[in-house]
Amino acid sequence: MFLRVARHTNNLEKIETFYVNILGFERLGGFQNHDNYNGVFIGKSGLDWHFEFTESNDNVNHHPDEDDIIALYPTTVLEYNNLLENISRNNISIITSKNPYWNQNGKMFLDPDGYRIVISPLRAKNIIAKNQSSKSNKSMNILLETERLILREILPTDEMAIYRLDSNPNVHRFLGNNPITTMEESRKYIDHIRNQYTQNGIGRFAVVLKETNEMIGWSGIKFITEPENNHVNFYEIGYRFIEEHWGKGYAYESAKAWLDYGFNEMKIQKMYASANKENVGSIKILKKIGMQQVSEFDWNGIPCYWFELENK
Ligand SMILES: CC(C)(COP(=O)(O)OP(=O)(O)OC[C@H]1O[C@@H](n2cnc3c(N)ncnc32)[C@H](O)[C@@H]1OP(=O)(O)O)[C@@H](O)C(=O)NCCC(=O)NCCS
Repeated sequence: MFLRVARHTNNLEKIETFYVNILGFERLGGFQNHDNYNGVFIGKSGLDWHFEFTESNDNVNHHPDEDDIIALYPTTVLEYNNLLENISRNNISIITSKNPYWNQNGKMFLDPDGYRIVISPLRAKNIIAKNQSSKSNKSMNILLETERLILREILPTDEMAIYRLDSNPNVHRFLGNNPITTMEESRKYIDHIRNQYTQNGIGRFAVVLKETNEMIGWSGIKFITEPENNHVNFYEIGYRFIEEHWGKGYAYESAKAWLDYGFNEMKIQKMYASANKENVGSIKILKKIGMQQVSEFDWNGIPCYWFELENK
């Protein structure tokens, strides 16, 4: 059996734009003036269901209540995250569901006709492009290689390198947070990053010097879920290196590799970054990889630049 969910609308164009451009469906077909009805079929090729939206000379007469919901289940974490990013970029507000289940298991918002839609990560597998994340050992199976560097997941055994990195006040000069003072903090930080791998399928990665096999810092893509400069649920590029390895082009080399990976493998639509306005080195790197400085904002009292780059 095939399923078609048909709905009347006074905003056919807006509805089509919303379901296709924001929610990522396809326009499967449409018709004009069939007994005074215009319509579009919206779905995904290969699926045995789709929406039909119709417009006629009559005004719509909808009475959806707060529990009338369309629930969508993206099949990968990446698809789920991309949808959230799209929704946020289009300034669509996330609303609270009357039924608490959906607040715990998804994000609710309204379509242009005021119907409630939920996207839920419950069926999303933690797959990133070609790289599969295995839940059993939480290993990332992503390994990038550049001319001089290996970019691999951060491991619990990196605690000493993270300590060397993050206990140095010079490293934290423009970061607005305090250097760490104990190995326990180093371990907690590693746990925090590895949790992001599981939750978001991506996070900061260790940068290892091929020549010596030494971990010299981290670099990578983080999925940011807290609001920053009026953005939420976006991918950000960042890096941090042990001081003795500064000035050798490693930050640029790794950041470029991550930008390419984010655009070509993860298919991220827009990459973001930010830097303290005084962090000349970081600003230079971001500009060198092609990020565009689009605005300024205040981050916890620190004046920062905001960078963006569209994946074209
Ligand atoms: C900022 C940081 C990542 C730079 O790393 P790096 O490996 O030294 O940077 P690179 O060698 O790749 O430098 C790339 C370019 O920036 C320039 N640059 C780097 N640091 C600079 C500085 N402090 N002042 C001026 N230019 C600088 C380099 O000369 C190079 O320019 P070029 O391409 O014209 O030769 C490093 O200093 C660091 O880890 N700082 C602490 C953490 C931090 O601030 N992270 C960024 C948060 S937004």
